[in-house]
Amino acid sequence: MAEQRTIILDCDPGHDDAVAIMLALGNPGIELLGLTTVGGNQTLEKVTRNAQSVLVMCGRDDVPVHPGASRPLLRPVEVAEGIHGDSGLDGVELPEPTRPVASPHGVQFIVDTVMGAEPGAITLVATGPLTNLALAARLEPRIVERVREVVVMGGGYHEGNWTAVAEFNIWVDPEAASIVFDEEWPLTMVGLDLTHQALATEEVERQVAEIGSDLGEFFIGLMAFFRQAYRENQGFDDPPVHDPCTVAYLIDPAVVATRKAPLVVELHGEHTKGMTVADFRAPAPDDCRHQVATELDRDAFWRMVVESIRVLSVADERR
Ligand code: BDR
Ligand code: CA
Repeated sequence: MAEQRTIILDCDPGHDDAVAIMLALGNPGIELLGLTTVGGNQTLEKVTRNAQSVLVMCGRDDVPVHPGASRPLLRPVEVAEGIHGDSGLDGVELPEPTRPVASPHGVQFIVDTVMGAEPGAITLVATGPLTNLALAARLEPRIVERVREVVVMGGGYHEGNWTAVAEFNIWVDPEAASIVFDEEWPLTMVGLDLTHQALATEEVERQVAEIGSDLGEFFIGLMAFFRQAYRENQGFDDPPVHDPCTVAYLIDPAVVATRKAPLVVELHGEHTKGMTVADFRAPAPDDCRHQVATELDRDAFWRMVVESIRVLSVADERR
């Protein structure tokens, strides 16, 4: 097990973002300082409210939610309604938020938090389009050398899901992704090659059902909708739960095998816009700051997720 990691989770909940939040809150290996939200799976307004509802379900409405960018840097908003539904978290009843959203703006929160902490203390985890991280790097360039690591769910070196070669989070705001990938911070890309191994099988749901809690039922409702959406839209039997793979990697790097490879984001290709291009020619340069996730220890990953739901459920019962 690695040392505890202090993170900001930049997200667009989203069924799998919701599971990333559960894992971050239910595992002692993570200190979650706050959520920043970004327009992606649904509008900024909807994903922000979803983030608040998930925190209520987790019994952790003390975690601040800072709304960030509502649209990509250059392009119009594109949401993933076919995968996440009209609310962005279809399949469950969403509790009303119990607290207002926090200020400042999500981008300013990232800047203030990183600048106010010791250098190397904060890890940025992004599970939506990279608009907020790009804006933060431009607003205060000194954050780049102070951030410990950036861990991104996005891209893929063999696979796409929104186009033949582009993954949704990168496709929505490729210019922002390009800024974030080109900055001098260490960056781990947890892309589709890895996250398509994180399938929520019926066995996983059975284990969560055994916990017998409201949060467990919430997870199961989310996964039922997600499974149907992935069956209809992407030909999967079970849904790939992408976003918590980033958090699992931080909790225990042994769960996610990685390989160093320089990465760039394709911005201009007629058929390849939004593709993440990994250079696997060996050896990777000594100063290579990029790594890509390659292989998931599925059992260990799901053990972590199920355990986090159990931990949050027990804490909720005690209240
Ligand atoms: C990514 O896109 C979103 O729909 C999911 O939440 C995940 O972050 C997968 O391509
Ligand atoms: Ca997401």
